[in-house]
Amino acid sequence: MSLLQDLNWRYATKSMSGETVPQDKLDAIFSAINLSATSYGLQPYTVLVVSNQAIKDKLQTAAYGQVQVGSASHVLVFAVPEKITGDDIQTFINNVATTRNMPIEMLDGYKGMMTTTVGALPAEAQQVWAAKQAYIALGTAMAAAAEQKVDTCPMEGFDAKQFDEILGLAEKSLKSVVILPLGFRAETDATATYKKVRKEQNELFQFVN
Ligand SMILES: Cc1cc2nc3c(=O)[nH]c(=O)nc-3n(C[C@H](O)[C@H](O)[C@H](O)COP(=O)(O)O)c2cc1C
Repeated sequence: MSLLQDLNWRYATKSMSGETVPQDKLDAIFSAINLSATSYGLQPYTVLVVSNQAIKDKLQTAAYGQVQVGSASHVLVFAVPEKITGDDIQTFINNVATTRNMPIEMLDGYKGMMTTTVGALPAEAQQVWAAKQAYIALGTAMAAAAEQKVDTCPMEGFDAKQFDEILGLAEKSLKSVVILPLGFRAETDATATYKKVRKEQNELFQFVN
């Protein structure tokens, strides 16, 4: 199927069948998330992959009872660090140098730029910046899942504080920002047949020729 067909096939699934997503499909989605673009390449987020039913049930309660959470095979929780530190930047720089077999000093300018821009932001602004990067990965994950014929529902409708508590995120210096239940649509999910509601393209695009 083409990307456009996949995007037409997918929808924000309100109820999953409970069937487990096979590992090869999960791996394809995880690889796509890891290949998602981020500003500077810093990948300033962690993705928690929750398959434990008791924990999914607790998360569903913290998501105002939305059943796509508890009935999902896996729930991806995109979480950002409380703070982006000099160590985080150094770890990334080390990875670039090793991966590309470059002398680390060649990256001093790049490192300096990151340190004086995103590295110098107050923690809250860093979290907003990191969340923007996580949302790009969310979109990539949804497209990759659709290609695998795995259903998803992107979700902001949850109590982030409760999620952080259930998943022990404070101890990891992380904060949840957006979630993505993965699974297979339940036969009873009537919204599967709803027509897509979208703007006319001439409302969405303005061409500057
Ligand atoms: C960031 C984000 C947050 C969303 N939060 C929820 C949510 O909490 N619960 C829900 O059922 N759908 C949620 N949605 C799904 C949207 O309502 C849905 O994507 C939109 O209506 C378009 O429909 P479609 O995705 O089925 O094409 C969210 C979508 C996005 C992108």
